[in-house]
Amino acid sequence: MVPREFRLSPLGARVFCVIGGIKMDVLKRLTELKDEARTRLQAASSEEDLEKVRVDFLGREGLLTGILRGIGSLPVEQRADVGSLGNRVKGDVESQLEEARDRVRAGQRDQQLRGEGIDVTAPGRAMPMGRYHPLMQTLDEVLEVFVAMGYAVARGPEVESEWHNFTGLNLPADHPARDMQDSFYVTDELVLRTQTSPIQLRYMQRFAPRLPVRIVGPGRVYRRGDDDVSHSPVFHQCEALLVDRNVTFGHLRGTLMDFARRLFGDEVEVRFRPSYFPFTEPSAEVDVSCTACGGRGCSTCSGSGFLEILGAGMVHPQVLKNGGYDPEEVSGFAFGMGIERLAMLKFGIGDIRYLYENDVRFLQQV
Ligand code: DAH
Repeated sequence: MVPREFRLSPLGARVFCVIGGIKMDVLKRLTELKDEARTRLQAASSEEDLEKVRVDFLGREGLLTGILRGIGSLPVEQRADVGSLGNRVKGDVESQLEEARDRVRAGQRDQQLRGEGIDVTAPGRAMPMGRYHPLMQTLDEVLEVFVAMGYAVARGPEVESEWHNFTGLNLPADHPARDMQDSFYVTDELVLRTQTSPIQLRYMQRFAPRLPVRIVGPGRVYRRGDDDVSHSPVFHQCEALLVDRNVTFGHLRGTLMDFARRLFGDEVEVRFRPSYFPFTEPSAEVDVSCTACGGRGCSTCSGSGFLEILGAGMVHPQVLKNGGYDPEEVSGFAFGMGIERLAMLKFGIGDIRYLYENDVRFLQQV
């Protein structure tokens, strides 16, 4: 900044000031200041540059401020000219400063954005994703089919009374069928449930005498025994129960065919084989045409072309009675299926233990 000693002196019509010992024409000086300010603002590239220009021209000690402040000491007739030009120059410098500030800020923003720029062609970072366990996927599919048919989902305790697990389902203490299932006893009267069938009984007891009863009951069950390719001491079943007036074996058959087709596709064939369960009469085992070979016969179905998927039957009159229903008035059907088995068929899994080891290399495939 030019060192200056500022003084206005009247000389005729023209006004002079002395800057750095040089006498100058004030009006001309104002015009020069305007140009100087413009030149410096155009060259400014940072907020600091701008601030310096502002201080030099408009600050308390600034060049323009000095001239404007000196107006009061000018002869009266000259004040108007100097004042009006001075104020115009001041306004002009202010608006140029504003413009330059916008330009500098836009430039800074551009630069910042360029710095923060992302390379959209860079390879992404892999996000490890959890997934639903194949068993639960299968169970969900089963439940969805039945919920769509109007069934409600019911649950029961895993530590079950002996009565609900066995006796109430028509397996008295000396019944040979009790030997079919080796059980984990918690006390003399409590057992880890060996099947989901007690859910039927508990639901009927709570719901009777209302109709219809229409439930699916999924859950974990426990059996002592081998731990091999097709057996696990803990596994999952899903039970179904329908009780109403005039329910027939035909309804059971239709329901299971519909279920099998929704789960395995329209092409699947469904076969009923006579069987025995103490809580149903008559009882049946239900097979579907082999999902691996389509029914021609392969190692999965041991050449038979069929795979067993569930046990079913018409609810035994005594079980209806135990549930609080009158077997003269109502009838019902029930069935129960193993979820591990369905999952193994659906995903082509050869060993039940894969479902429990939770090896991520296995889980990632399904
Ligand atoms: N609870 C039987 C089992 O664990 C399966 C079963 C068969 C359930 C027939 C039923 C049924 O409800 O009617 O092997």
